Amino acid sequence: MVTAGDPPADIGILFSPARADGGMSDTIAVIPGDGIGREVIPAAIDVLEALDVEFEFVEGEAGDEVLESRGEALPEETYELAADADATLFGAAGETAADVILPLREAVGSFANIRPARAYPGVDSLRPETDLVFVRENTEGVYSGIEHEIADGVTTLTRVITDDASRKIAEYGFEYAEANSYDDVTVAHKANVMRTTDGQFLESVGRVAEAGGHEYDEALMDALAMHLLLRPEEYGVVICPNLAGDVLSDLAAGLVGGLGLLPSANVGEDNALFEPVHGSAPDIAGEGIANPAATVLSAAMLLEHLGYGDAAVRVRAAVEAVLEDGPRTPDLGGDASTNDVTAAIVDRL
Ligand code: NAI
Ligand code: MG
Repeated sequence: MVTAGDPPADIGILFSPARADGGMSDTIAVIPGDGIGREVIPAAIDVLEALDVEFEFVEGEAGDEVLESRGEALPEETYELAADADATLFGAAGETAADVILPLREAVGSFANIRPARAYPGVDSLRPETDLVFVRENTEGVYSGIEHEIADGVTTLTRVITDDASRKIAEYGFEYAEANSYDDVTVAHKANVMRTTDGQFLESVGRVAEAGGHEYDEALMDALAMHLLLRPEEYGVVICPNLAGDVLSDLAAGLVGGLGLLPSANVGEDNALFEPVHGSAPDIAGEGIANPAATVLSAAMLLEHLGYGDAAVRVRAAVEAVLEDGPRTPDLGGDASTNDVTAAIVDRL
């Protein structure tokens, strides 16, 4: 298994369909959103622009402020921008987050949400040996939006699990683990209670594993939460249904020292959106002290996805070096600004 402290080339990397198309510059939709999204996205762009990779950046608006000024949190043209781009870099939205990010994930046709949670040398973390990657199904499950009030005080939710989506997430998860040298693949479920839906999930994953000759363990998601907390080093890639992936990956965020460090990807067949796991952080927005690491690491995943693996490795190595040696933003115990940290990362490139 890859562990914290290994050389940069081993840092949790998004499985890449290697689609760099020699010479043509990729179009990146850039959607800063609200709050610190407007501080960390420019930081990530600075880093991307310091590389010898040519991108065309096109900027779109979304979030609380656009809702106020224009009456909609996600204007049609921003949706189209993401749908038409080669990849999207998104910051964060505030209260309108769900109205922005759910349609944007749909715009890029995302079926997998990839959330690496890795402890970094030099960063105070609960479990320094943590190196986990959650591969979360993100089109169905209990987030399918089928909720009803069937009588006064009686509400229902329909959990949708399909063979199609379950196989897709399993294929992606196993490929990701192989491409990134993770030996341990765990499939989270609760099939002892949700017999039909998670029964389907396990059956679909099992068939994909058998066809590809992949090994994996099954784990009840509640027990898994405890084991991840106590012995994260025993796990690598965790393939999850939608809600389990959401909850377990936040738990893992707690293991490695905070939201300012966690990148994510929403991957589709031929498009993808990259975003920090954190939100708009209204408590520190405007102060210029947001940690840009999560967004810069998201940009590294974007590079990987577009086939610029070497550039991605350089960016991750630069972020790691700065996390270890400083400067650091206040969330990591330092007193540096977003700009100081960004400049240090660019310097290390
Ligand atoms: P949050 O992630 O914005 O902030 C939680 C805490 O972590 C805050 O104390 C914040 O200062 C800190 N923090 C987060 N990112 C940081 C960074 N890069 N550097 C330093 N400190 C950082 O979550 P919260 O407070 O629950 O939500 C705030 C707003 O963000 C809400 O309106 C929520 O709806 C929205 N949100 C949006 C998301 C998205 O756009 N994907 C995801 C989560 C929340
Ligand atoms: Mg969440």
